[in-house]
Amino acid sequence: FKRFPLKLVHGIPLMEPIAQNWQRVEEFQARPDDLLISTYPKSGTTWMQEIVDLIYNEGDVEKARRAPTNIRMPFLELFIQKSMLSDVDFLEKTSSPRIIKTHLPFQLVPKSFWNLNCKTIYVARNAKDCAVSFYYFDKMNLTQPEPGTWNEYLQKFMEEKLSWGSWYNHVRDYWDEKDKHRILYVFYEDMKEDPAREIRKVMQFLEKDLGEEVIQKIVHHTSFQVMKENPMANGTSVPSFIFDQSISPFMRKGEVGNWKHHFTVAQNEAFDAHYQHKMKGTTVTFRTQI
Ligand code: A3P
Repeated sequence: FKRFPLKLVHGIPLMEPIAQNWQRVEEFQARPDDLLISTYPKSGTTWMQEIVDLIYNEGDVEKARRAPTNIRMPFLELFIQKSMLSDVDFLEKTSSPRIIKTHLPFQLVPKSFWNLNCKTIYVARNAKDCAVSFYYFDKMNLTQPEPGTWNEYLQKFMEEKLSWGSWYNHVRDYWDEKDKHRILYVFYEDMKEDPAREIRKVMQFLEKDLGEEVIQKIVHHTSFQVMKENPMANGTSVPSFIFDQSISPFMRKGEVGNWKHHFTVAQNEAFDAHYQHKMKGTTVTFRTQI
């Protein structure tokens, strides 16, 4: 299997097969009851997907184990990769209400989602943990470009040259758009701090009232340890020629602040200075001291 090079689509680096099939993504027809779960990669996408699927299924854990994550909640821009995940028409054939995953920055999301006023849940995670998590992911995900050394990788993150582009613009743009569309903006760090509180927010956004017992069940089923053991959520359904989990597990650490074990003092200082510059003027803030 080959690691795909990145190609620019409207200035955003995307894996070659996505770029080659871009028109199909751009022209994708949303349905009014679609729910989009959008994130910069490694921000807690799978965690939020599992929470939402359980809310849709009213806490029925068996139903949430009916199929792997990517079948239950297809990946918008990767559904075109026949050999990897599903056939070309998979999303079109998925029955409503659909829960659709995307990593596309706001500007690249197919316009039909916004025209139909679809709901979106956006999960944001602090840049440093995202960068570390993405590094380990790119080592084990054999479709992504070779990550190189951690230092090289961190430079690429700062230069916005990784798949799906700039973390900085991603989190900023959805933040700016959240009140103009039906976007719920959630933080990974808040989910770690108090998952029940964040699950209640998601439920309210989805107009579901399931009661405390069900919320506690969802908290348990979507805890890191339980998801790590769940073959329908832990990435083991993805063949090892794509996800080589012997290199790094898909469910890796699930912590806030894991970056502290990877950034050197010099890397941290350079990162902070650059961060101030890139995030100037935005009101979105991240809590890393939890
Ligand atoms: P780490 O690599 O820091 O462990 P995504 O689903 O967007 O690819 O995000 C993956 C990151 O979320 C990984 O971070 C993964 O371990 C973490 N994660 C997945 N499920 C989680 C859960 N239930 N609780 C906390 N973190 C979780």
